[in-house]
Amino acid sequence: MAFTFFFRDRHTLEHLSRLISDYTKGFSNIKIWDAGSAMGPEPYTFAMILSETIGPYAFRKVQVTASDIDEHDKYGDIIKEAVYPKSELVRMPEDIFEKYFKPTDKTDMYKIVPEITSCMKFLKHDLLTLTPFDSNFHAIICKNVLLHFQPNQRIEVIKMFNQCLEPGGFLVTEQTQPMPPECSHLFEKAVPDANIYRKLGS
Ligand SMILES: C[S@@+](CC[C@H](N)C(=O)[O-])C[C@H]1O[C@@H](n2cnc3c(N)ncnc32)[C@H](O)[C@@H]1O
Repeated sequence: MAFTFFFRDRHTLEHLSRLISDYTKGFSNIKIWDAGSAMGPEPYTFAMILSETIGPYAFRKVQVTASDIDEHDKYGDIIKEAVYPKSELVRMPEDIFEKYFKPTDKTDMYKIVPEITSCMKFLKHDLLTLTPFDSNFHAIICKNVLLHFQPNQRIEVIKMFNQCLEPGGFLVTEQTQPMPPECSHLFEKAVPDANIYRKLGS
């Protein structure tokens, strides 16, 4: 199973949420792609943080597509069911846990509320095909995935992300992943203290 957890790198996801809030004011929809989502903690965490930032009314415009290569064909069902053991939820703020998770009839298993799950869909997708399944995203989150690729694959995947972002849209990578010089004309750093990049040009 891929390593991931709820509220991983909360600082960066909160930054992104504020940036998206400003950028999408007046938009009729907000499209987010979480690429390499594993079994859902990251896209669900971001959905909760974004809902807190923009409020439940604006959040109804949000669509998050979580994708992963999903070698064992498990992530789609896990993400759709949205039931996670309490042991995986201990790092999250108590108020968020109370608001967005409800107990199930199974001991120590909690289900994410429909306000959040209804914005989420999962697609099995291999980033290395370099063929996006959609376009016009306002943000792409791709964390702790690029490090598994060869340098030239990283460059091509980042170029693909650039192509399917809206002008001014955001790309997020993990802290340890520098923007390759071959792609630096495509993005500018959006904040000094997180790996959030803003698409340049159209
Ligand atoms: C370490 S997990 C990161 C999960 C989450 N993004 C996070 O940061 O917590 C890496 C994920 O990348 C996925 N992955 C690896 N190669 C991929 C590819 N070519 N296309 C799509 N996903 C891939 C793996 O299946 C795994 O779920």
